[in-house]
Order: sequence, then structure tokens, then C-alpha cells
Amino acid sequence: MNNGNSNTANEDLVPGLANILVTGGAGFIGSNFIRYAFAKTDFKGTIVNYDKLTYAGNLLNLTDIEEKFGGKNYFFERGDILDYEKVKQVVTKFKINIIVHFAAESHVDRSIFGPKDFVETNINGTFNLIEVSRQLWTGRSDVRFHHISTDEVYGSLGDTGFFYETTSYDPRSPYSASKAASDHLVRAYYHTYGLPVTISNCSNNYGPCHFPEKLIPLVILNALEGKPLPVYGDGKNVRDWLYVEDHCEAIWMILNKGIAGETYNIGGECEKKNIEVVREICSVLERLCPAKDNPALRTLNAARSRMDQSGELQSYQDLITFVTDRPGHDRRYAINCDKIKNELGWTQRHDFENGLKDTIAWYLNNADWVKNVRSGEYAKWIEKNYIRRS
Ligand code: NAD
Ligand code: TYD
Repeated sequence: MNNGNSNTANEDLVPGLANILVTGGAGFIGSNFIRYAFAKTDFKGTIVNYDKLTYAGNLLNLTDIEEKFGGKNYFFERGDILDYEKVKQVVTKFKINIIVHFAAESHVDRSIFGPKDFVETNINGTFNLIEVSRQLWTGRSDVRFHHISTDEVYGSLGDTGFFYETTSYDPRSPYSASKAASDHLVRAYYHTYGLPVTISNCSNNYGPCHFPEKLIPLVILNALEGKPLPVYGDGKNVRDWLYVEDHCEAIWMILNKGIAGETYNIGGECEKKNIEVVREICSVLERLCPAKDNPALRTLNAARSRMDQSGELQSYQDLITFVTDRPGHDRRYAINCDKIKNELGWTQRHDFENGLKDTIAWYLNNADWVKNVRSGEYAKWIEKNYIRRS
């Protein structure tokens, strides 16, 4: 590794021809990234998807990729990032020269119930990956470790202001604290060992294949089934929403043009209160699949009238239910992403209205995927998280 302290793009690194290890490639963003690389870029190299397949990992996210590229230039390896020997063996076997590290425990509410897995995967797992990279890549100038992080490491904003790459870290949940710790380790390996790393801190993503424990897919699927749409607290917490494909494009640009040692913020520049997001989902659903024609809501109304419950459910909005807040709930996130725009020429291509419409259409058209992810473990989580809030 000899480009640790360089401040120009590395000409020896050609992502379009590289052997890329994608950790967590069976998850939401990782699977979208793999599809993006094959479908929307000039990529001619090899991608190895290294994933433990936790509850959040789903190979159905990549059926089309497996069919088209499997065994040629796409390979799946089931493994834990905590397994040092296995990671090392895979990186060696496939002559990996870029690692794009998505694998993580990613849900804040789960981190409140059980922080241990977050410390293990997000901190120790990341440590393993950078250790393997350091061991195997010393002396090379054609390598890169890209670490995917979150805006949540910066903490919580008041009504004004933005997160910049230089904002001090102030994580408040076990999830964001574990991501912050991993960012520090990755950055330390750049300064100490010259490992050519880049880091991106991104705002809330939405889009196809999003696991329905997170706000947007949860609300879409609950509404379609006539279930309550749980809004934490007063519903006025603000998130900055980014369509997942725009995030994938930003990562691709960082691999191609990003400078080792640099951090890039990626945001949607699309701030919305949670209650606004939930209302927008309800109105798109009303257009695509009107509540009055939805058999689930008709059955619910019949049951309500049998039980003498007042008021017929006329629209999806009637399902909105305010529930007990998340402990330590960050009030507002807002990313300033001028750096990646000015230095790498990235910009968002999807606005929220169209992104949301496409996302909802995807869930309506992928009933088998929905059925599959909601079986088993998912039901247990929904009971655990929502029973105590009602
Ligand atoms: P996800 O939960 O959908 O997917 C995580 C994937 O990692 C799954 O496929 C899972 O099986 C795999 N995984 C988990 N533990 C593993 C382990 N020990 N070894 C190997 N694989 C393991 O997550 P996501 O939403 O796709 O997020 C991807 C990354 O992006 C994470 O690092 C997350 O912190 C970050 N991020 C996510 C968002 C968002 O809005 N979803 C925003 C900013 C940053
Ligand atoms: P989430 O999708 O879990 O992402 P994050 O916590 O990483 O931002 O939640 C987005 C916002 O929606 C967050 O402010 C919490 C809120 N929320 C609800 O109001 N109800 C829910 O059922 C969930 C899952 C989240």
C-alpha cells in the first residue's frame, strides 16, 4: 500500500475491471449496489457477495443477477465477517482488490433490544476486514477499502443546521455508536498503515428490497393489510430520504474518483417529518390500490361493525396510529453533500415523489418476495417491537 497519503485519485485502481468483495450483498443496499454495478456501469470485473444471511439477508434480492452472471462474474459466498480465516481465504481465492463493506446490523430499534450483535458485527467484523486487507494488500497500489457508514454517527440536529464531513461524532444509539466506532477504526488504518480507504456517510435510503422492519416498507405493507401504521412519538422527527439507486451511483463514483483517506457525505436533500412520509405513502397507495377496493380493509370494516367499533376505515390514512416513542430518538438528520457534488460530480436523480411511487409499485409487484421475508423471524420481531408500544 503506497498511496495512503496521496491526495489524488489512484490511477492503478480500475473499478470497472476489479475483483470486488461486497460484504452484506444480500441485504437492502448491498443487493441494489450489485445490480447497479452490473446493469448501469461499464463493469467487466468480478463481484463476490460475502454475506452471513442473517434475518436481513435474502438471496431472492439477487435472483436475476445469479441467473445472468452466477458462476461467470458473480459469486456468492456465505460467511460471517467475524470469521477472519474465511474472509482471508475468499479475498485470496478471488484475488480481491476492492472491498465495499455494507455488512452490518442496521436497525436502530433492534440495537436497543440487543446491542451485542451490533458491537460484534459492526465493530469487530469491520476490524477483521481491515486487518485482512492490511495483511494481504501491503505494497499494492491497486486496492481500495470502501466503508459504508451512516449520517447517524453525527447525532441529532435541532430545527436548523446540517451534518458536514467535519461535524464531530455524537452517536446516541447502540447502532450509531457501533457504526461510529467502525468509522474510527477504518480511518485509523489509513493514517497508521496507509490502507487506502474511503468512507461514505449516508442518509436514510428507500427503494426496492428494503426489509420491512424499517419505516417506509413497514408502512406500505401494513397499509395493504389494513394493519395500524405505527408512528413513534409525535411523528415530527425528520429524516433525509435518498433513493437507494442514487446512493449506489455515489458509491460507484467514490470507487472511481474518490481520494484515499477521504470521507464523503451522501444525502437526499429531501427532509421530511415521519408523519409526512407516512401520509405520502397513504396517498400514493390510494392512487395505485384504493382502500375502498382493498379486500383486507373491507374485511376489517366488516369485523369492526360486528364488534360495534365506531367509524368505518375509509382510507389508508385512518390506519395511522401514534405509538410510544423510541428511547433516545434522534430528532432530525440533514446531510450536506456539497463535497461529493462538487468534487466527484454526483447528484441525486430521483425525487421523493417518483422514488416513492416506484418503491410502492415494486412492493405491489413482488408479492412472493414479501411473503418470503415476512415469514418466520420477522413475525417475532414485529410482536416484540410493537406490542410494548400500543
Ligand atoms: P441490511 O440490514 O438490509 O443488510 C445487511 C446485510 O449484512 C444482510 O444481508 C446481512 O445478512 C449481512 N450481515 C449482517 N451481519 C453480517 C455478518 N456478521 N457477516 C456477514 N454478513 C452480515 O442493511 P442495509 O440497509 O442494506 O445497510 C447496508 C449498510 O449501509 C450498513 O452498513 C448500514 O449501516 C449502512 N446504511 C444504511 C442506511 C439505510 O437507510 N438502510 C443508511 C445509511 C447507512
Ligand atoms: P427507520 O426506518 O427505523 O430508520 P432510522 O431509525 O435509521 O432513521 O426509522 C425512520 C424514522 O421513522 C425514525 O425517526 C423512526 C420512525 N419510525 C416510526 O415512526 N415507526 C416505525 O414503526 C419505525 C420502524 C420507524
